[in-house]
Amino acid sequence: MNPSNKIPVLTIDGPAGSGKGTVGQIVAACLGWHYLDSGALYRVLAVAMQQVGCRPTDGARLAGLVESLDIRFETRTDGEPAHVRLAGVDVTAAVRSEACGRLASEIAAQPAVRAALLLKQRAFRRPPGLVADGRDMGTTVFPDAVVKIFLTASPEIRAERRYKQLKQKGFDDNLEKLTGEIRERDRRDAERAASPLTPAADADTLDTSRMTIAEVVESILARLRSRSAY
Ligand code: DC
Repeated sequence: MNPSNKIPVLTIDGPAGSGKGTVGQIVAACLGWHYLDSGALYRVLAVAMQQVGCRPTDGARLAGLVESLDIRFETRTDGEPAHVRLAGVDVTAAVRSEACGRLASEIAAQPAVRAALLLKQRAFRRPPGLVADGRDMGTTVFPDAVVKIFLTASPEIRAERRYKQLKQKGFDDNLEKLTGEIRERDRRDAERAASPLTPAADADTLDTSRMTIAEVVESILARLRSRSAY
């Protein structure tokens, strides 16, 4: 058995705006575990793709680009998502736009891209544990996770949350347009053949539409406690 398989992983999957990122970071901080925002890897690859002028459908070239990606996450202590550097340059703002999310979703449909990112994601599994958020954390990347959560919320509520987040970051988005974009991104993520957005067979699904962040966090920690010694 690979020794890293003994390191516990808690996966949080779900569509855009379901709260995975916010909740995942808090759960990781409560446990003192590492945190992987797998969506950020796809987003940074989308930024790199634009820099080299590659097409989102060129899976082989994108997979090659993954190998040369110099990504650094700078964890924040103020509750903000980690800052992201690509080859030393801070790309946090570019990475967070909904336009970048759409490009990330397009390149994420390429099996060669997903295969190239697999080992990069698994390398985040370090002691004492890992909280990993994304679309296929429980199904493909960490199928042996100790607890698997699938977060959902109605599309309207998710769009509203994303709208507030983007507004805070200075992006001037339109709620109606954003709702359409999020629906489109969910459809593409759920319908693709390679590791589509879907709950793992052994995942617990939580509808967060009417839950506070604190309630979602507590519910996830309670599941972990009931299933293990952490
Ligand atoms: O979680 P996010 O919104 O930052 O993710 C951006 C896109 O990246 C998402 O629409 C699809 C893709 N993605 C993926 O396919 N698999 C993951 N594990 C994470 C993200």
